[in-house]
Amino acid sequence: MTRLVSEASGPIRGRVRVPGDKSISHRALMLGALAVGETRIEGLLEGEDVLRTAAAMRALGATVTQDGKGRWRVAGRGIGGLAEPADVIDMGNAGTGTRLLMGLVATHPITAFFTGDASLRGRPMERVAAPLREMGATITARDGGRLPLAVIGTATPVPIRYRLPVASAQIKSAILLAGLNTPGETSVIEPEPTRDHTELMLRHFGAALAVEETAEGRLIRLQGQPELAGRAIAVPADPSSAAFPLVAALLREGADVTLSDVGLNPHRIGLIATLREMGGSIEILDRRDAAGEPVGDLRVRGSRLQAVEVPAARAPSMIDEYPILAVAAACAEGRTVMRGLGELRVKESDRLAAIARGLAACGVTVEAGTDSLVVEGAGAAPRGGGTVETALDHRIAMAFLVLGMATEKPVAIDDGGPIETSFPDFVALMNGLGARIAAG
Ligand code: S3P
Repeated sequence: MTRLVSEASGPIRGRVRVPGDKSISHRALMLGALAVGETRIEGLLEGEDVLRTAAAMRALGATVTQDGKGRWRVAGRGIGGLAEPADVIDMGNAGTGTRLLMGLVATHPITAFFTGDASLRGRPMERVAAPLREMGATITARDGGRLPLAVIGTATPVPIRYRLPVASAQIKSAILLAGLNTPGETSVIEPEPTRDHTELMLRHFGAALAVEETAEGRLIRLQGQPELAGRAIAVPADPSSAAFPLVAALLREGADVTLSDVGLNPHRIGLIATLREMGGSIEILDRRDAAGEPVGDLRVRGSRLQAVEVPAARAPSMIDEYPILAVAAACAEGRTVMRGLGELRVKESDRLAAIARGLAACGVTVEAGTDSLVVEGAGAAPRGGGTVETALDHRIAMAFLVLGMATEKPVAIDDGGPIETSFPDFVALMNGLGARIAAG
């Protein structure tokens, strides 16, 4: 365990590019492996989670090569071409990688065993296993639908029409990926829209995919067994990683930071909307397109933040950003109320509990309900001084190091190791902007 301590910093300044988007990086490796021909990826996130997916795709028979920093090539096997892995696939901390791969394997006539770290072994997989069984796969998991689990893929998959019981891009994506090697039309209805990177990338690779709004929600229809063609993909900077320097800049008067090439997919930018409502100065500059995904640069300046009520409907578009929003709320003036957060209980940690414990340890009045969070901000940074348990959760680790940049007393986290999963150079990048984060 690497204990890290974050001490009060001055206003941070500079221009940086945070690492590539984790969601898009996983999908680029997977679709590259199913395409015919070569896929060239620029800006791939080289964090632990994505490296686990790269290793899994190799175990499933694809040739995955690193050419340079962030530059990767995948020689695809074609849809239906995955090979049976010779050993158990250890996915580490990667929930997205595991759930999407379960979908891929489910409609190939192969058997794969998945396991992961203590965090991943505690997370619910039945939500993905249930629709994949309807498509014909056999999935056997530990009690409670937990890893380790076995997926015995079917040679004769059947298409389904599935209504998502929870707003989850991971469930939607697992079904669509399983639908790739299924004859006929696989469709998913999502009552609340979630990130659509899978849909955008499937189109980019040449799949026939129709999306329409219906009375039941968004209906996504995929024609099975398309021929995907290898493509070039430029992975945008991850908005969920950009969120950390972004909030660090907002919290200090005089700070001025520009974050380059940030992904601005409308299903990912609920945090920007919320922080602007709180009075945050965030400008979007030079909007452009990268392989079907919108990107732009964000200029962020230190601002006085006011509390807000964050509606439940916004949760899917900022689901990974509540730890850092809670930090911003702790420094804002007034009571911030966040609703619709039930899914936070089953992320890399029980994030509602982890946020509440960490803020309380730093002198903040906070109340976590079953699916809500109320944070009392004093209009200035809280005292700090706590040691926060990160519970194998990268976003809890980074959020509290950002809090320590603003508090009077330093904030410590018990383990900085999990940061590797999504933002390997976090400490160096933040210190380069003026943070004071060190082992201690
Ligand atoms: C992800 C979807 C989200 C998010 C996760 C990445 C994805 O999970 O929390 O970090 O890449 O599809 P859910 O879709 O399960 O909410």
